[in-house]
Amino acid sequence: MQKRELGRSSLEVSALGLGCMGMSMNYGPPQDRQEMMALLRSAVDRGTTFFDTAEVYGPFTNEELVGKALAPVRNQVVIATKFGFAIDPGSKERRGFDSRPDHIRQVAEASLKRLRTDVIDLFYQHRVDPSVPIEDVAGTVKDLVAEGKIRYSGLSEASAATIRRAHAVQPVCAVQSEYSLWARDPEAHVLPTCEELGIGFVPWSPLGQGFLTGKVRPDTKFGNDDVRSWFPRFAPEAMNANQSLIELLHRVAVLKHATPAQIALAWLLAKKPWIVPIPGTRRLERLEENMASADVDLTTDDLREIDDAASKIKVQGSRGTGHEHCG
Ligand SMILES: NC(=O)c1ccc[n+]([C@@H]2O[C@H](COP(=O)([O-])OP(=O)(O)OC[C@H]3O[C@@H](n4cnc5c(N)ncnc54)[C@H](OP(=O)(O)O)[C@@H]3O)[C@@H](O)[C@H]2O)c1
Repeated sequence: MQKRELGRSSLEVSALGLGCMGMSMNYGPPQDRQEMMALLRSAVDRGTTFFDTAEVYGPFTNEELVGKALAPVRNQVVIATKFGFAIDPGSKERRGFDSRPDHIRQVAEASLKRLRTDVIDLFYQHRVDPSVPIEDVAGTVKDLVAEGKIRYSGLSEASAATIRRAHAVQPVCAVQSEYSLWARDPEAHVLPTCEELGIGFVPWSPLGQGFLTGKVRPDTKFGNDDVRSWFPRFAPEAMNANQSLIELLHRVAVLKHATPAQIALAWLLAKKPWIVPIPGTRRLERLEENMASADVDLTTDDLREIDDAASKIKVQGSRGTGHEHCG
């Protein structure tokens, strides 16, 4: 697969990464560990070099899975993980945010162990903690970089103003926010800020939690352990109303000899050369399908046509922001 540089950071990764969250939570029960380890290794064999996990996925088990699977190929891959939640050690439940410097240090040490590595390639603050100034967070990460425990710093779901403040203390390599054809908030302020500061952008849920693939239908039933069972956009009425987005993706897909999922990803890739989506999947054939979107060529005219058509579609239902399910 082609490679991309995350902004002007000099961190080079495959044009698409692999989101690992769904292997351990949010879309049904945790998957079989051996099967997911095999999938992770297949991803590397096929050219994926960028893997996205977080302390809170599981919690903890997703980092352990990713660490174990990738240990034998550690020098070929870039592993991104995230800190920033308080997690009760007993119940393992989330108890709000915690980006206090001491806590960041503890999480870094624990993540290093779970990931079976001596350096974290990219360490994101998962959510901005309103009780800790971002300068203190960036300063702590800067110290960890100086100590050789972290290579690059990232932010997730941060505003343009917060990105600027953090970047002034410690260069931000990548910002991660939800971005896809039906979640376009970053276009207003975050993407222009990333462009100006030379920061890479990593869209999470780039397939709209599966909706933009066309495989989730209005009559799809989600279990209680699937966050989509309570996301407003996955209510049957909203999914019915939003079918025009799927029709648009289908139309372009036919013209490009591709699938709707591939067009949804190619649209992101075509937006900027420093954008690196991280679609999540637990199936090899979908991983291959998603990776092949890097070969779908969308011209500027194609992009304009898709944007024009999409702008006439009013998406129904508020989005699951990831705040509720801390993806
Ligand atoms: N920073 C944050 O706050 C945050 C929040 C959410 C997510 N994330 C990161 O972003 C990654 C991706 O987001 P996501 O997993 O929420 O959403 P996504 O990538 O938009 O969609 C994943 C869903 O789509 C399905 N899927 C994937 N490829 C498909 C294909 N080709 N055809 C049909 N269905 C397909 C998957 O099912 P199968 O697994 O069954 O294939 C899964 O249900 C996560 O893994 C996580 O690492 C970060």
